[in-house]
Formats: sequence, C-alpha cells, structure tokens
Amino acid sequence: MRVGVLTGGGDCPGLNAVIRAVVRKGVQGHGFEFVGYREGWKGPLEGLTMQLGVEECRGILPRGGTILGSSRTNPFKIDDGVERIRKNLAADGVDALVAIGGEDTLGVATKLADLGVNVVGVPKTIDNDLSGTDFTFGFDTAVNIATEAIDRLHTTAESHHRVLVVEVMGRHAGWIALHAGIAGGASIVLIPEQPFDIEEVCRLVESRFESRYAPILVVSEGAVPAEAAEGEDGMTLQSGEVDAFGHVRLGGIGDRLAGELERRTGKEARAVVLGHVQRGGTPTAFDRWLATRFGLQAIDAVADGDFGTMMALRGTKIIRVPLIEGTGELKLVSPEEYAEAQVFFG
Ligand code: F6P
Repeated sequence: MRVGVLTGGGDCPGLNAVIRAVVRKGVQGHGFEFVGYREGWKGPLEGLTMQLGVEECRGILPRGGTILGSSRTNPFKIDDGVERIRKNLAADGVDALVAIGGEDTLGVATKLADLGVNVVGVPKTIDNDLSGTDFTFGFDTAVNIATEAIDRLHTTAESHHRVLVVEVMGRHAGWIALHAGIAGGASIVLIPEQPFDIEEVCRLVESRFESRYAPILVVSEGAVPAEAAEGEDGMTLQSGEVDAFGHVRLGGIGDRLAGELERRTGKEARAVVLGHVQRGGTPTAFDRWLATRFGLQAIDAVADGDFGTMMALRGTKIIRVPLIEGTGELKLVSPEEYAEAQVFFG
C-alpha cells in the first residue's frame, strides 16, 4: 500500500514525532511505501510531494515544526478542490492518507472521508480544543512554556509592584491559560468561555496589591469583556483579517487589558505576549510520547482499513473514534473547571 502523509494548520511540537512513528511502523511493520504531501491540504491539491521514508525521518523526533511544512489551505473553498485531490492521489498511486491536524485540517478530512477518500486523522493542536480525546499533542509543551514564563514574571512583577498581563494562545478555548495559570499561580485567569467584567478584574488586581504580592493575569488571546460578548462596543479585540476557514486573526487583548487596568487602577501594568514561542522548539517528553503513540496507532488503522477515524487518548489508552467526534464540536473549559482556578484569584 502507498500512504500519503500531511500536516495542516498551525505548527505544533510533536508533528515530526507523529510522522516518524507513522513511517517507521508503516515500513517495518506493514511494508508500506510513503508519499510526503507538503504544506497541508495544498500538497494533495496541487501535487506538492516529497520523498518520505525511514531515512527522511532520522533525527526528527525532538525537532519542533514539521518536515512536511504546513498551511491553512481549505480545498472546499477552491473550485474542483475535491476532484483535484482525488486526481492527484490517483496519479501518485496513493491508496490512503494520514492527515495530522486540528479542527480545520481534520474538518476537511471528515468531509473527504464522507466522500469516500481513505483518510485517518491524528489530532494536533496546542489549544487542546478537539473533542473525543483527553489531550492533543503540543498542548503540554505550550503549557510548560507558558508556565515557565509566568514563574519568571512573578519575581519581576513583585520587584516593581506592577501588574503583569501574560497573553497566551487559545482562540476559542482557554485550556492553555487555565493549565498554565493554575501551574504558575496566576492571580487571575481570563478565558474565551467566560467573558470578564473589567470592574471585577480591577477589584481583584487591587486586592492582590493589598498583600505584598503583585498580580499576574493570564489571558487567552480569545478572551472578551462581557460588554463585547454581548455585542456592545467594548475593547476592540480583533483585526478584520480572515483565513480560509473563516477565523479572524486574534491578538492584542493583553495590551488592551494592561492599558485599561492602568487607567482604572492607577497601577503600572505591562503586557507580555507569548505568541508563537508557545508553538516553537522541542516537544516535551509527554508530547513526544503521545505523538509517537498516535502515529503508531494511525498507521495500524490504515492497515486495518479503518478509515474515517481519528486517534484519541482516553486515560492511557489510544483508541479510534469517528473523525466527526473530534471535529463536530470544540472541547471547551466548563464553568466547573474554571471555578477551580477561581479559588486562587485576587
Ligand atoms: O490553532 C492553534 C493556534 O496556535 C491558535 O492558538 C492561534 O489562534 C492560531 O493558531 C494562530 O495562528 P497563526 O500562527 O496562523 O497566526
């Protein structure tokens, strides 16, 4: 069998570990050949391929990024996109695809599987917002990077009696903010699922200064003030730019919040935007372990002809679930999970 592999969407620590595991087990365990599709769905759409075998995968386990490259190409937004993919897969002699991606890349995989394309999905995103799996790989690395940043910011915030606002990634879901905020002992965590009341945030900031500590706020890039969530003209949060999947480019809440807190409380406030640092560099041991096991199981699913499935972590086991279970609905932070962190606010 000839198997195509692609990585789509934002890059994520652990992508190379998945590719390596898929190829090693595929070649050694199943006698498969591989085609690397470059730059996400753009690869099969435009016939962009690269050689992919055991040799190409040597030394990539600890490397961040993806040797295949990535993009946010959406074939369903392109005329004849699906037909072009079918044609290119046939021309490359590819019988099945392993698609490694988040909600968008696996959303495309879900639709293609419904149209009869042989595809198996591996869930990837630092945001950890895919349903059906306890964790996606990349999340643990992002949380560790954010936690280290919070640890470092505590001492400088205290020395200067400043408010420090740490903006982390998380478009729709506050998992990174919540986990790093709890691990790093943040004074306040603001997430997209729970629109915040700026007056209440100011009150918590002031109460924190009453102790001898300075407040550290961890805020997801997608967090919104309550008035904006209700459609009123609150702090402007987004640029108008939209990608092929209809997502606006987020960012800027940290700076805006710091400015607003300074204006309202009279305390000096600074923002730190962690941005793509959270996605770069080497994966943690947990992410290498998870990514490797996802890869091993994904190629077994291909060998079993179990298409239209996504690999999922449940406890310590990797299981197969229908792709739609992962992509149908995002996994969000529940009010109960948020309430656990709230005990430490202020
Ligand atoms: O989906 C992963 C993610 O890192 C989000 O947290 C973030 O909103 C987005 O990707 C950023 O994408 P880009 O790197 O294309 O700006």
